[in-house]
Amino acid sequence: MRVIRTIQQMHDYSVTAREAGKSIGFVPTMGALHNGHLMLVEKALAENDLVVCSIFVNPIQFNNSRDLEKYPRTFGKDSAMLEAIGCNVIFYPEVEEMYPEPVTHTYDFGLLDKVMEGRYRAGHFNGVAIVVKKLFDIVIPHKAYFGEKDYQQLAVIKALVKIESVDIAIIPCPIVRETDGLAMSSRNVRLTPAQRRVAPLIYQTLIKASELYLTQSVQTVIDFVTQTIHENPEMKLEYFEISDTETLAPIRENKPHGPVVACIAVFMGQVRLIDNMIFNL
Ligand code: PAJ
Repeated sequence: MRVIRTIQQMHDYSVTAREAGKSIGFVPTMGALHNGHLMLVEKALAENDLVVCSIFVNPIQFNNSRDLEKYPRTFGKDSAMLEAIGCNVIFYPEVEEMYPEPVTHTYDFGLLDKVMEGRYRAGHFNGVAIVVKKLFDIVIPHKAYFGEKDYQQLAVIKALVKIESVDIAIIPCPIVRETDGLAMSSRNVRLTPAQRRVAPLIYQTLIKASELYLTQSVQTVIDFVTQTIHENPEMKLEYFEISDTETLAPIRENKPHGPVVACIAVFMGQVRLIDNMIFNL
């Protein structure tokens, strides 16, 4: 496995691989890898000749400097995990390499980046889109893999490739969970043991909400989730929305016949956890 630290070397590697007729799969990450990330890499390995995984804690997508500072950085462990599963390249640039100049570009994603995460994390998705576009230009993959754990991010990336006419297939991958249901996240290691014990309540609440959704109104489901999270002293609900799976427009009254996506963000102390689930009638 190669670790590449400069844009030029990464780009040259990919150009050479493409000229040799190799297909390239790409998994962008911010490191602190867990099985959720590895599942993306494994899927990429199964579908491509070569796989590049990037590790870059992207400062411009953090709207909270404390969160950026506290973001776990575990490169030694990450690279050992990637090597063990057969990843070909880690692209691991410095901040100065990626951002020699201040970023000024602003994307217009319409509603997609205004609701939910976008509402509470101003500028977050613009920062994600900027870095992903840069990474796409550098790595020039055929396919790029994103987790449904970040459902709204996936929707923004799908919009980004349309806006920028990028010729890369975006491959969604299902949420990987701990055995107790907690969605895997690099932030989980920041939970205290007491918080970690109750954190699966988020998933359990989504499961119950999906059952209630079959027979109850959208508002009843929202009230149930709000109340359940509120009753737990370790948790503070930031939002819970039931939304259109494509536009992410919130659904308030009539339930559509097709699937909807239920998205939740919860603070446990300083740690912000997100999760989501597809609800079907
Ligand atoms: P990061 O949070 O490191 O996640 C990298 C990828 O792993 C994302 O596509 C995310 O959805 C996926 N992922 C994380 N946890 C997962 C889980 N439990 N199950 C399935 N997939 C999971 O998302 C980012 O980094 C950044 O915003 C990035 C796209 C790299 C841009 O900086």
